[in-house]
Amino acid sequence: MEKISLGEYDIFVGDIWEPLNDLLVEFNYSKIVVLIDENTRHHCLSALLSNTDIENLKLIEITSGEVHKSIETCNVIWKQMIVKQLDRNALVINLGGGVIGDMGGFCASTFKRGMDFIQIPTTLLSQVDSSIGGKLGIDFGDVKNSIGLFKNPKAVFIYPGFLKTLPAAEIQSGFAEMIKHGLIADTEIWEELKMINDFENVNWTSLIIPSLKIKKRIVEADPFEKNVRKKLNFGHTIGHAVESLALQSKQPLLHGEAIAVGMVCEAWLSVKNSNLSESVLDEISEYIVKKYGKVSLKESAFSNLIDLMKNDKKNEGAAINFTLLSQPGKASINHTCDEKMIAESLRYYIQL
Ligand SMILES: NC(=O)c1ccc[n+]([C@@H]2O[C@H](COP(=O)([O-])OP(=O)(O)OC[C@H]3O[C@@H](n4cnc5c(N)ncnc54)[C@H](O)[C@@H]3O)[C@@H](O)[C@H]2O)c1
Ligand SMILES: [Zn+2]
Repeated sequence: MEKISLGEYDIFVGDIWEPLNDLLVEFNYSKIVVLIDENTRHHCLSALLSNTDIENLKLIEITSGEVHKSIETCNVIWKQMIVKQLDRNALVINLGGGVIGDMGGFCASTFKRGMDFIQIPTTLLSQVDSSIGGKLGIDFGDVKNSIGLFKNPKAVFIYPGFLKTLPAAEIQSGFAEMIKHGLIADTEIWEELKMINDFENVNWTSLIIPSLKIKKRIVEADPFEKNVRKKLNFGHTIGHAVESLALQSKQPLLHGEAIAVGMVCEAWLSVKNSNLSESVLDEISEYIVKKYGKVSLKESAFSNLIDLMKNDKKNEGAAINFTLLSQPGKASINHTCDEKMIAESLRYYIQL
């Protein structure tokens, strides 16, 4: 088991049950509630129950899916917290992917002005990315993660064994964030990930730890995203817009699938604005299209996409903000690109 400390809290990776039990004993919570969805109830809850000794555990179950990362679901959760008579000394355990982690943390942090929560991420994306860094929230008014706050969990417990039941598409989605970590901060990781063609025989623990450490280093340097943390947004300015648009359609994309599109477009912008070489752009595009296929984007949707980008939290004023690469493993922040150039990057993706 590996312990990684991030400021005031610890992240445990591997056989998490002993440190989890220790934490529960140490804090002696008045009540413990586990937030689950139908999939984590089915696939993950029994491991938690059989490996911990929690008396009088309570469950709150919500319906899975990004469309439920909403204020309506928060209403359901907060009401259940009242029905279950949680007080400020209670604990919420978020057992699930990024949706449960972001929204469960948000509900816990706002209920009665805030109670403790811990993250037990059960998807690859949440294990390498969303469960650490303290960003919590929900989608609102068609804009992803537009309502939320920064608040750290009491601890994060990452059990890669949960990935065994995760659908292949979800593995693929989380893998996009690992590719991003390599591209922005560690060329060796990018080289290693690039060699992975099938996910069957991957030793996830050995890939999750270095990926997590990249995010940890960046978050530690800039917890509130004033500067270097923006590096983690590579692929996300365009990716979030693609994701938001898809969310409104009948064929929503997984977060990582949208970010994969964003990384290709933003690598193209990097060639124009940040000296990324054409050959690296080709390499990134080829790998991502091979792994993720092509998402159908229509020229008629470009203005909608650009409008969504204008709503991005990362912008300052009217300009649309990007993180761009100068080479694999090196990213720089606060680039602005005009609408014509952004449209051009989308066109580049379409013609691949
Ligand atoms: N807070 C952050 O810093 C941050 C960073 C990146 C992404 N996010 C957010 O994370 C969310 C995406 O997270 P996600 O990709 O984990 O999606 P998700 O939470 O929707 O989970 C994906 C699906 O997998 C199911 N599932 C979860 N664990 C499982 C398991 N072990 N076996 C079988 N099925 C399982 C879930 O029920 C769900 O259907 C987005 O809302 C995104 O905005 C947040
Ligand atoms: Zn992301």
